[in-house]
Amino acid sequence: MMWPTAAAQLLGLEVPVIQAPMGGGPSTVELAAATSNAGGMGSLAGGYLGPARLREDIRRLRSLTSRPFAVNLFVPSAVDVTDDELDTALRVLEPYRLELGLPPRADVSAWSEDFDAQLDVVIDERVPGFSFAFGLLSAAQQSRVRQSGAVTIGTATNVAEARALEHSGVDIICAQGAEAGGHHGSWLAAADDSLIGSLALVPLICDAVRVPVVAAGGIMDGRGVAAVLCLGAGAAQMGTAFMLCSEAGTAAPHRAAIRAASETDVVTTSTVTGRLARGVRNRLMTELRDAKVPPYPVMNALTAELRRASAASNDDQLMSLWCGQAAPLAAAGSADDLVRSIAAALASTALPSPRRGAE
Ligand SMILES: Cc1cc2nc3c(=O)[nH]c(=O)nc-3n(C[C@H](O)[C@H](O)[C@H](O)COP(=O)(O)O)c2cc1C
Repeated sequence: MMWPTAAAQLLGLEVPVIQAPMGGGPSTVELAAATSNAGGMGSLAGGYLGPARLREDIRRLRSLTSRPFAVNLFVPSAVDVTDDELDTALRVLEPYRLELGLPPRADVSAWSEDFDAQLDVVIDERVPGFSFAFGLLSAAQQSRVRQSGAVTIGTATNVAEARALEHSGVDIICAQGAEAGGHHGSWLAAADDSLIGSLALVPLICDAVRVPVVAAGGIMDGRGVAAVLCLGAGAAQMGTAFMLCSEAGTAAPHRAAIRAASETDVVTTSTVTGRLARGVRNRLMTELRDAKVPPYPVMNALTAELRRASAASNDDQLMSLWCGQAAPLAAAGSADDLVRSIAAALASTALPSPRRGAE
């Protein structure tokens, strides 16, 4: 293997592992710090954080590590919802809210956080890495972030998205395979048409672009990292593998569901948040399957409070149990142990040299 790969050099990785940003709780400052300190790169999931909390978390992370880390945000999409669609969704959710002791209707003040304000914080704090999902930055945003010194990582689930990201000037592309846990990042194709497995997606994207590629989706240990390096990726971005780590903020019922899940329990839903997402099947997923719901981020905002209330009452049936297809391989331990075990596995694996420019 050509080590360090171009992606590892750009990101300052000693081990080709990026802890994926995991919004909604699993990502913590401590998890990111532990991963970075072990030689990988931790990510802060900023998508659901307001600007003040985002700034606080970045500063706290800086106090816990002097090594590189990334901050992640969601590129916003236009919100298009009619009063009728809203009313239908609120009616569908009413029984679940009442069951959890919440007022019948969600009172949502904004469908998502203010992306411009979040991005200002990222730029202002001069973070080492900035990753984003669900779209492209504008030319002005892309250049402001790069001028602040951040390495930019855009997320693609197909070749067209990877090409568009390269054209927009990103430094690295994260190829997110269909195995991935949480929301699927597709934005230039219908999500159902863009469920390309990592084994197909990573070499397809590596062959289509000149910028370095990192692979995400279904990578759980040294075998998986070695496999995506062989496919041409320069590093692995791993989410589910970190979810049972002691430093993760994964809620107790979510941890238990991951521990108990077999691969056939991990399925997709489009109706819990209005965007395709993967996690352990539960009542909310099953009962909403055929519901007519508004798109993300509206449905995400409408179900957020009830999913949080379900988690708080230790009930795994009405919360989101996001995780990837390889969840049964997730192991408890520390992030430090996980990164070091991958480094050890790679040290004893014979890896071929990737084609020039393909890593
Ligand atoms: C619980 C959870 C939350 C996630 N939240 C985010 C997020 O906030 N931003 C993002 O870009 N990706 C998010 N992802 C996707 C990850 O970045 C990554 O693509 C995925 O975890 C890789 O697949 P794996 O879970 O099989 O490792 C999330 C994934 C999970 C499991």
